[in-house]
Amino acid sequence: MKQLQRRGWFRYLTLGLITCLTAIAFAFGAVTAQETPRVFKVATEPTFPPFEMQAEGGEGLEGFDIDLMEAIAAEAGLDVEFVSLPFDGIIPALQSQTVDAAISGITITAERAQSLSFSRPYFKAGLAIAVQEGENNIRSFEDLEGKKIAVQIGTTGAREVAKIEGAQIVTFDSAAIALQELINGKVDAVVNDGPVTLYAIKNAGLQGVKVVGELVTEEFYGIALPKDSPDLEIINGALTNLLATGEYNAIYQNWFAGDPPPLPPVAPALESDAVNALNWGRLFQNLFKGAGVTLMLTFFSFIFGLLGGTLVALALISPYKPLRLICRVYVEFFRGTPMLVQLFMIYFGLPALFRELGLDFSFERLPAAIAALSLNVAAYLAEIMRGGIQSIEKGQWEACESLGMNPIETMRYIIFPQAFRRMLPPLGNEFITLIKDTSLVAVIGFEELFRQGQLMVATTYKAFEIYLAVALVYLLLTTASSFIFKWLERRMDPLKKKTKAVAPPKNITRPQVASQ
Ligand code: ARG
Repeated sequence: MKQLQRRGWFRYLTLGLITCLTAIAFAFGAVTAQETPRVFKVATEPTFPPFEMQAEGGEGLEGFDIDLMEAIAAEAGLDVEFVSLPFDGIIPALQSQTVDAAISGITITAERAQSLSFSRPYFKAGLAIAVQEGENNIRSFEDLEGKKIAVQIGTTGAREVAKIEGAQIVTFDSAAIALQELINGKVDAVVNDGPVTLYAIKNAGLQGVKVVGELVTEEFYGIALPKDSPDLEIINGALTNLLATGEYNAIYQNWFAGDPPPLPPVAPALESDAVNALNWGRLFQNLFKGAGVTLMLTFFSFIFGLLGGTLVALALISPYKPLRLICRVYVEFFRGTPMLVQLFMIYFGLPALFRELGLDFSFERLPAAIAALSLNVAAYLAEIMRGGIQSIEKGQWEACESLGMNPIETMRYIIFPQAFRRMLPPLGNEFITLIKDTSLVAVIGFEELFRQGQLMVATTYKAFEIYLAVALVYLLLTTASSFIFKWLERRMDPLKKKTKAVAPPKNITRPQVASQ
């Protein structure tokens, strides 16, 4: 009875508390809703100085675009929040309206204007060609024919170089990496927004690189918004005011020398027609080309990983302590650090280190990618193999020894065949993981399956359809591999194998087990 009463009290107390909390939450919500201005989410890709970059102290962003956007927000009474996104992810984010706008040195083009709305132009720019300091043969856009050119994915630079005959184009996630490739001598030129390349050379101390010829294009940057966004008018109004009051000029002079050039009210590019329809035939053709590269990378990395992994596994169970220690450090390092970091270390880090040591060394993309993938996968495979081998009872080693077999024969005929069967399922897992992990090498400009998808999205802006198609092709590859591994497992299973059992020789008598 007493207990029941107590429970009743408790119920009232809880109910009361919940009511109070709800009331407080409502009141607070009403107050905050009234007082705080709307949060306006603005996407940007912040590796594009002087337009957008990480602030010097490391906190937040800074740059011409950032200052301008903040001034516009202040003018329009908005509370701006910047969202960092990869450049080729900005347009899809605007299409899905996960952000309200984007400011990122985005050129106003007729193709983009089909799926987005642009503010009035806020900056005049154009593409510039950058080459190594000692290069004297490339002086204009025409000289780029048949050359190796680095660009940032999804940019107007990438669009322009696609028109050059016989050019070999490598796309990177940021303009900074493209320029690094040029310094490393892996490409002949970089085509990128002029103000950004010049800023990198003049203000950020980028060495060994120069800009040649005239600007290849005339472009105007605009703030991008979802198609027919109701905010367009507000942004345009605020921008027009800043231009009139001279506040725009002040921001401009803070980042660039001299006075800003006059800006047209509408970008000339919008007067031309554009087509960016998705061609399904071309999509599948590109995806299958990419799938071929993915399979090739997976296959070679797995084979090298298997070889390396076997050696490391043997070293890990060997009686030599220093060897065991070295291999343990290797395994822990490659398992314990992100593959992406390892890839960057090998592809960008090693050549830089060698250069500092006064040696001329650079890695080609393919060996670098296979080296990074194999080193990483070998660490996992070594552990799988060590585990598999050690899972076989010690007694079998002893039995073989008493039969006069040496350790190599024991491993070859007795231990490994049994261990291998146990290793097959985790090996299959690793293979499937590797298929998916190869997508990481897209960052060094490899046109494997995922990159092919990204490249198509960057020109057609059909993110959902294309990434779904990419996912399906990966699924096809992983399902096929899992079938192959299942089949291997069945084949290796002595109970299910349909080979004739070998009858034991008649004259062998069963050993007598001595009872203790
Ligand atoms: N203006 C070029 C374009 O619109 C490049 C812009 C790249 N911007 C950036 N933040 N990475 O395609």
